[in-house]
Order: sequence, then structure tokens, then C-alpha cells
Amino acid sequence: MIFEQVATGGCQSYLIGCEGTRIAALIDPELTQIDRYLGLAARDGLRIRYAIDSHTHADHFSASRELAERLDIPVVSHRLSPAPYVRMRLEDGELLQVGGLKIQALHTPGHTRDSMSLICEDRVFTGDTLLIGGTGRTDLPTGDPNKLYDSLFERLLKLDPTLLVYPAHDYKGRTHSTIGAEIADNPRLQKRERAAFVEMMNQLNLSAPTHLTEALRTNMSGGKTVAQLLAEATAAVPFVAMTDLARRVEQGDLGFVVLDVREREAFRAGHIPGAQHLPRGQLELRVNQDLPDPTARIVTCCEFGRISTLAASTLRTLGFMHASALDGGMKAWREAGLPLAEGD
Ligand SMILES: [Fe+2]
Repeated sequence: MIFEQVATGGCQSYLIGCEGTRIAALIDPELTQIDRYLGLAARDGLRIRYAIDSHTHADHFSASRELAERLDIPVVSHRLSPAPYVRMRLEDGELLQVGGLKIQALHTPGHTRDSMSLICEDRVFTGDTLLIGGTGRTDLPTGDPNKLYDSLFERLLKLDPTLLVYPAHDYKGRTHSTIGAEIADNPRLQKRERAAFVEMMNQLNLSAPTHLTEALRTNMSGGKTVAQLLAEATAAVPFVAMTDLARRVEQGDLGFVVLDVREREAFRAGHIPGAQHLPRGQLELRVNQDLPDPTARIVTCCEFGRISTLAASTLRTLGFMHASALDGGMKAWREAGLPLAEGD
């Protein structure tokens, strides 16, 4: 088996490949690691055929939909996954053939109702059902401590104790464990009575993961993260350096339309001399009237440089092929002591 473990913070993902056929699968891929997965697969001569999510992640962004689109491969999840882009839905016990490797899905709900663990040869990928020295939490949407108890005590812990455990999370830099070691040492598994276990899980009082709503939104729908949207706009737009624009302002010859896309109050309080005002919220509605020349060189600006990047990208989509964005925003412009004009 060809095996790579890729950590993103505490999130663990896995590339597993068949040595004979070079067919591979990704387990719990994370959005920012796409180039890394593709690089690893290329280095090892692997063709990724499946993107598998062990469950609906609430704390990080799954790369499955994006990989599925790029590689024309199915996203694989449990039957109960709410994500509409899942193309292969596994039932408990079903096998996935990855070349000569077989991956068996075990439905292990509790952390979420669509949680599954995946057994492949000498190891089990436990998702967030069983962690090293811990278990997944059960207080997020579709979590259920009773079901987690069954998944752990009736299923995972009854597997071969020598089976290697590879979880979807580890925050302490550990790569794996074994079923036997977890039975012996995992503090959460020492409450072997159902009632005591459920009570312990209900009293954990954990803080909500960062990006909870965004992770659930994007992982359940296949929609984009805000960072993705911004990265795509950034890649589609050229930028104008602040020093370059400042020099032009000083010379009194801008040479392009400086389009300030902030709200009116912010514009009136201080803008780049000679700038034209068109709030981002009205951009598409007023563009024909305010920017009659599609060949004009335009540089957008806003407070921090993000909304202006989105605005420049929108202008390019609309056919303004010389639209660019200011590298930086008005906050940086002010802090640099560059000239400002007030009023309308
Ligand atoms: Fe999770």
C-alpha cells in the first residue's frame, strides 16, 4: 500500500494507493492541500479515483467537491450525507475497490449521523468517531452520544486490537495508534457503561469550532468558502501598487479611472483625489451609466483591498478588460500619509 498522511493543523487526511495498479483514494481531503495531494499523486505515479469524506465536517473545509470536479471522480460518503454532490453513497459494510485495495465502510454514527470508519488492510480510518486518546464530540448538528457509544463499544473496539487507528484529527502531532492501545489508554473509553459515557459526553461543554457555519455551509452544499471566492478573484485581476498610484496623483494625471467602491460616508470622509464613487452594492446596476467606456483602464479601491478585488473581478467578467485593483486599501493609503480629498 502506498500511504501518505497529510496534516493541516490538527486535521488529518490520507492518500492511499495500490502499488500494482497505481489507483488511489483520498480520505478527508482538505481544501488548502489540493496542490499537495496532486503533487504527491504525481510523484508516486498515482491516479486518484475517489475523494472520500468520512463524515460532514464542521470544522474544516473539505476538498472533495473541488477534486471531484477537477479530476472527474466521484465523491464518496455515507448514504446519510446531506451533500448533494456526493456521487457514491456507501451503506454499512460495503466495499470500495481501489485497484487491488479494498476499503470497507463501517457506519459509525455518533459524532455525526453520517460518520463512517474505513477499514483497509492493517488499518482503520476512524474519522472523528475514535481519536487518539479521545473521541469525536457529539454536541454538533446530528451528533448523538448514545449512537457514539454503540459505534465505539459495539463496533470499533471489537475490531482486531492490532489494527492501526488513523483518525481525522490529532492536535498533538501523533500520527496513529491501535485499537488495543485505545482500549487500554483512551480516557474517554474508560467509561464503559452507557449511561456514564453519555453523561460524560453531554458534560464536555466544548466551545464551537471556528468557521462552524461556513464549514457546514460549504461542506453540505458544495458552495465556495469566502477565502476561495477571494482567491479566485485575486487570481483573475492585476493589481496597481499604491506608490504607483500615489505618484500619478502627485503628477495630477491619473491615467485611469480610480473607482472607489466603498459606501458613500466612507468616500466623503476621505478618498483618493480624482476618484470616482460607485459603491460595490450598486456596481452591476450602475455600471452602464457610470462607466460607458469598456476599454477604459480602471483601478478599484476599497477600505482593505478585498472588496475592491471582487469588484475588479466583476468588472472583468462584465467586459472591462482593463480593470485592476489597488494593491492595499484606503486604510493603508491613509496610514502612509498619502493625499486625500473630502466630500463628493
Ligand atoms: Fe468532524
